[in-house]
Amino acid sequence: MELLHRAVLTALGAVSLVYALVKISLGYWKRRGILHEKPKFFWGNIKGVVTGKRHLQDALQAIYAEYKGRAPFVGFFACIKPFVLVLDLELVRHILVTHAGNFTTRGLYSTASVEPLSGNLLQLDGHKWRALHAQSAGVFSAANINKLLPRLLQISRGFQSSLGKQRLQTLNINELVDSYNLEVVASMAFGLTVDHTEFRRWTQTYWSNFSLWRAYLALEFPLLARVLRHQSYDKAATDYFQKVALRQLQEQRKRDRQPLQTFLQLYSRMEQPLDDVQIAAQAFGFVLAGLVPLNATLSFCLYELAQHPELQERVRAEIRGTLQQHDGQLTQEGLKELLYTKQVLNETLRLHTPYPLLLRRATKEFELPGSVFVIARGNNVIIPTAAIHRDPAIYDEPLRFDPDRFEAEARRKRPAMSFLPFGDGLRGCIAAQFVEQELLVGLVALLQHHRYAPCAKTEIPLKYDNGRLLLMPKTEIYLSVERMDN
Ligand code: HEM
Repeated sequence: MELLHRAVLTALGAVSLVYALVKISLGYWKRRGILHEKPKFFWGNIKGVVTGKRHLQDALQAIYAEYKGRAPFVGFFACIKPFVLVLDLELVRHILVTHAGNFTTRGLYSTASVEPLSGNLLQLDGHKWRALHAQSAGVFSAANINKLLPRLLQISRGFQSSLGKQRLQTLNINELVDSYNLEVVASMAFGLTVDHTEFRRWTQTYWSNFSLWRAYLALEFPLLARVLRHQSYDKAATDYFQKVALRQLQEQRKRDRQPLQTFLQLYSRMEQPLDDVQIAAQAFGFVLAGLVPLNATLSFCLYELAQHPELQERVRAEIRGTLQQHDGQLTQEGLKELLYTKQVLNETLRLHTPYPLLLRRATKEFELPGSVFVIARGNNVIIPTAAIHRDPAIYDEPLRFDPDRFEAEARRKRPAMSFLPFGDGLRGCIAAQFVEQELLVGLVALLQHHRYAPCAKTEIPLKYDNGRLLLMPKTEIYLSVERMDN
C-alpha cells in the first residue's frame, strides 16, 4: 500500500514538475513584456501545424498579418520553445546584413562525430561553420559557376531528349523535373556518371528515420542528444552517400587534367582542401539543402505556366529568340539575356517560396537602434519570408502570378529585404548563383519544344504538403505535355 502511495506521489510530482516547466517556458514573452500571440498549453502557437491541419507557413502568415505594424517583432512559441518572429524589414536587414555578426548561428542539430555527413554548411554553426564558409565561398564563385556551364548543358541536352518525340502525353511533373535535378546533383556534386537508380532511392529515403519529436528534442537539448548519439538520417543512406563521394574522390585523383565537371573537383582543388569526409558532407549538402527546393521550384513554375498560356508563350519566344541569336547554343551571354524567364522564376520563388522561413539564433544581445526593443542573447529568430512575399502592402494582389513584378523598375520601387527566397547576408544560400543557372538551363530544355497545359489529373488549386517544413506540393502535379512541331 505504501509502495502504491509512493508511486502515485512520484507520478504526481513528475506531472506537476512538467506542468510547471511548460508554464514557465510559455510565460517567457509575458515576463519580458513583449507583444506575443497567446500560446496554447504545450502546443504554443503551432497546434494545427503539429496535427497536420495547416502548414507552418500559414501559421506564421496569420501572426505576421495580425501584428505587423504594431512592433518590429512579436513573440511566438513553437510548442514550448519561444521564438522572435520578425515583422519589420528594417529589423530583417539588421539581422541578415548590418548586424549579421550577432546572428551567425542557425541552431540546427549537427554531430559530425556520430553522423559525419551532418558536418555540412547548412547544419554547422560557430567556428566550424565560419571556417567552412570561408573555404566554400571560393568553390561557389561566379567564375567556377561559369566553368561548370558546359557540363550542365550536357546534362540538360540529355534530359531534353528524354522528353521524347511523342506528340501528346500526360506527365507527372514532379518526377520529370526530379530526373533533371537528380542527374545534376548525382553527377555534379558526387561525380556519378552512370545509372542513378540507387542514388535516387537513397535521396527519397534518407529521411525515413525522421521523427518530429526526436528532432525537436535534439534541437532543444543538443547536449543530451549528443550523449544519446542521436542521428537525424537513415544510417544506410548516409553510409551510401559517404561511400559514393569517397570512391569518386579516389577515382578523380587517378585521372589528372580532367576538365572541370564537378563540385568534388572544386573542393579538392582548394588551397587548403578539406579532408575527404568533410567534402562528402558538402556533397550531401546538395541533396539536403538543394534537391527538394530545386524540384519544387521547377514543378511550381511549370504548374503556373500551364495555367497562364500567354506567359508561357512569352517565355518560349524569349528562349527561342535567344538561342537563335547565339547559333542555337545556350551560352553565358544568352543566359543573361533571358530576362523574362528570370522574372518568371523569381515570381515562382515569391509565390511558392520553397524555404518559407529563415532561422537565426542571437549569439549576442541586439538592441534595435532608436527603440526599446531587445533581442536577447540565445533568442531564436524566425524571419517569415513566405509571409513577406505574400504581404499585400508589398505585393499588390499577392496570390496572383505576375512576373511583371520583377521588371527592373518595379523591383527598384520595393523596399530592401522584401524578396528573400535565398535568404541574404553571411548565411544566405551559398549556391544561389548556381541554382539560378541550373533552373534557367532546365527551363530552356523543358520549354523550347514542349507546351504544358492543365489536364483532367491536374489539381487546381494546388495544396501544400503540411507535413513538410519546406513548401512542396501535397500531391503529384500532372500536366498535359505537347511536343511542338517547330
Ligand atoms: C531552388 C533551390 C534553392 C533554394 C530556394 C535555396 C534557398 C536557401 C535558403 C533560403 C537558405 C537559408 C538562407 C538563410 O538562412 O539566410 C539556404 C541555405 C543554404 N543553401 Fe540553398 N537553396 C536552394 C538550393 C541549394 C542548392 C542546390 C544547394 C547546393 C549546395 C544549396 C546549398 C545551401 C547551403 C549550403 C546553405 C547554408 C549556407 C550557410 O548556412 O552558410 N542550396 N538555401
